[in-house]
Amino acid sequence: MRGLVLSGGHGTRLRPITYSYQKQLIPVANKPILFYAIEDIIEAGIHEIGIVVGPNKEQVMDTVLSREWDATIEFIEQDAPRGIAHAVKISQGFLKDEPFVVYLGDNILREGITRHVDDFLSSGVDASILLSHVNNPQQFGVAQLDEQGKVMRLIEKPEHPPSDLALVGIYLFRHVIFDAVHSITPSWRNELEITDAIQWLIDHGYSVKASIVDGWWKDTGKSEDILEANTLVLDDIHTDIRGTVEDAIIRGRVVVGEGTVLRDGSVVKGPAIIGRECTISNAYIGPYTSIGDGCEIVGTEVEGSVVMEGARILDVERVVDSLIGRDALVERGNSLPKGHSFKIGDNSVVRI
Ligand code: DAU
Repeated sequence: MRGLVLSGGHGTRLRPITYSYQKQLIPVANKPILFYAIEDIIEAGIHEIGIVVGPNKEQVMDTVLSREWDATIEFIEQDAPRGIAHAVKISQGFLKDEPFVVYLGDNILREGITRHVDDFLSSGVDASILLSHVNNPQQFGVAQLDEQGKVMRLIEKPEHPPSDLALVGIYLFRHVIFDAVHSITPSWRNELEITDAIQWLIDHGYSVKASIVDGWWKDTGKSEDILEANTLVLDDIHTDIRGTVEDAIIRGRVVVGEGTVLRDGSVVKGPAIIGRECTISNAYIGPYTSIGDGCEIVGTEVEGSVVMEGARILDVERVVDSLIGRDALVERGNSLPKGHSFKIGDNSVVRI
């Protein structure tokens, strides 16, 4: 069995962060989202993994190769985001004749995929899809099942969803899927849709099994989703303090990386994670916050936020529910005339 992780696409809904950063590299609990997919695949016993890369491909390759994996990793270049089924099509050489799992690199599934991989391999079905109940099915591929739970129809982003069962971005296939991806034509958004390819299997009498996932699943397409995924992952962390707690109070489950100093009466209330080589001074780090490596948080309360590496937040009263990019600076200005002074990129959002 082989694994295929998709790490292309433009990530337009996550601008401005994605102007300079590939969306699957955005950290959730201080780990690139993409790593959750790779780890799940390896945990399921799969050790040959292809990663489809597009824009920012060097960034993705460098990040993936910065870590040792118990797997061989091959990168497959997609010239433009022409659809998930297109990514499968161009990966045929890598996937060979083996069964495989496709894992969208911006998805996180709490339970992992081991159970689904084992069920798929022992069942002998042609394809297996995972479904999750959601409140906003219009934003996903949606499945319609019959009374026996058999998949009848899949529709991509339907205006009038036939159910609340969204397609999770994890799919298990056998070789016949290549007949499907070679037969379908691009959709209204000019993509080869994986939902159309699976529908092709159903229409041609192949067996497609659906299972509903246990626990949470998150597609991190928008900034609210990143913050929510961060909350969900932090709910499972265990305390691990490697930095120096000089004059600070730590409550609840907190991770502090090597070389980080907590001082000047700081308070950290978990679940929270603070990376390596950070300075936290006279600050409150509240629940569900992730602070990346090399950050400086001084005289500020930060809560429910993701602060990426190298960012500095200095003497601003309170920062909540925020996504702060790498090396960003947020600080109190004391010069006259008084007022907010901005240097923000295209598509940024500031709430005061
Ligand atoms: O997350 C689940 C949803 O993912 C499913 O419910 C939908 O049926 C499925 O079409 C997909 O919808 P999205 O609109 O969220 O797909 P998105 O364009 O965001 O792409 C998903 C991932 O695949 C993302 O990490 C980028 C990557 N990708 C996407 C395309 C279209 C590629 O690497 N290449 C591509 O050509």
